[in-house]
Amino acid sequence: MKAIPIFQNGAAEVLKIQDWPTPQVRPDEVLIEVKAFGLNFADVQARKGQYAEAPPIPYVPGYEVAGIVCEVGAQVTRFHKGQAVFAITSFGGYSELAVAKEQVCFALPVSMSMAEGASIPVNFATAYHNLFQTGTLLPGSRILIHAAAGGVGLAAIQMAKLRNCEIFGTASSPQKLALLHEWGVHHPINYVEQDFVAEVMRITQGEGIDLVLDSIAGFSLKKGLSILRPHGRVIGFGGAGLSDRSGLNALKLVPQILSMLSINAIDLMMKSKGFYGSNLKALGDHRPEVLLDTMENVLRLFAEGKLKTIISKTYPWTEIVRAHQEIESRATTGKIVLTIP
Ligand SMILES: NC(=O)c1ccc[n+]([C@@H]2O[C@H](COP(=O)([O-])OP(=O)(O)OC[C@H]3O[C@@H](n4cnc5c(N)ncnc54)[C@H](OP(=O)(O)O)[C@@H]3O)[C@@H](O)[C@H]2O)c1
Repeated sequence: MKAIPIFQNGAAEVLKIQDWPTPQVRPDEVLIEVKAFGLNFADVQARKGQYAEAPPIPYVPGYEVAGIVCEVGAQVTRFHKGQAVFAITSFGGYSELAVAKEQVCFALPVSMSMAEGASIPVNFATAYHNLFQTGTLLPGSRILIHAAAGGVGLAAIQMAKLRNCEIFGTASSPQKLALLHEWGVHHPINYVEQDFVAEVMRITQGEGIDLVLDSIAGFSLKKGLSILRPHGRVIGFGGAGLSDRSGLNALKLVPQILSMLSINAIDLMMKSKGFYGSNLKALGDHRPEVLLDTMENVLRLFAEGKLKTIISKTYPWTEIVRAHQEIESRATTGKIVLTIP
């Protein structure tokens, strides 16, 4: 079969469609003939060698697929051959054939295309988990979403609107800010031109905020903690701000890492604030029942018509280099999906 393995870390051009061994199906897994797979910012970090939990090289990246079940393991009860599904994969998604654990595999709703199915798992599960399971977002709360025009961002905006929240969202360009306005963000903030801390405190007249979704890390985490009001929390779930490690930029990261290491537990306790780290891969690998609950809630919201998919571009998988370059250069909004003919 063909896949897009990573044989060496580096620029997007290291990604090529090549021959690769067919994965073995374990008893609790299904084998899926992949028709579409989703692109995630973490794929870029893995390709660059910045994702600590990536398997040793060579490996096939990819966290989410949609396709047709072509084999089921001996313990699998919910799926059968020929069924259209979408699934979370613990790597291995950029491939004609991918395995997924039954617990994180879902029947594709008849109303959804393969591309739509592949676009849902990572972005929407991350948003739901961070807002409701770790963020415990209350109705009417104030929420700040960083990288709000991205895949996780647009999913989180929709969910925050369901709780009538006052939404603050950061992005880096006027075009992305206009998009945030269209999606119902009350306070889009261009963090390149404005300090988001000062903006949030000005708009909230010094009261502060209840929940921050932070995928940037570095100084951003402590800044987020500084604008929380009591019972507020920062959910840290990514490190986009630490992803440029070329030349002298690597040195500039040292104070940012030190700032993260110096988060003060006593201060958080006295002010009744919290920091919570979240990682979908850790849940999928060790607490699949939590991830299953997350996904069931996401799918219920889709079935009730309360969420819509966020695909901005669909490319054939032969365009993988271009797709990676676009997400890496921050040119994308929402979700990019790759299709396999
Ligand atoms: N922990 C988990 O389980 C989990 C799961 C899914 C995603 N994530 C994380 O959530 C974030 C969003 O994921 P996504 O796939 O939806 O990606 P995305 O939001 O489509 O893309 C990442 C965005 O981050 C922003 N950004 C800020 N600083 C950046 C920098 N120094 N370099 C590059 N981008 C920067 C950019 O938006 P602006 O141009 O507007 O700043 C960029 O478009 C990523 O950091 C990802 O790693 C974590």
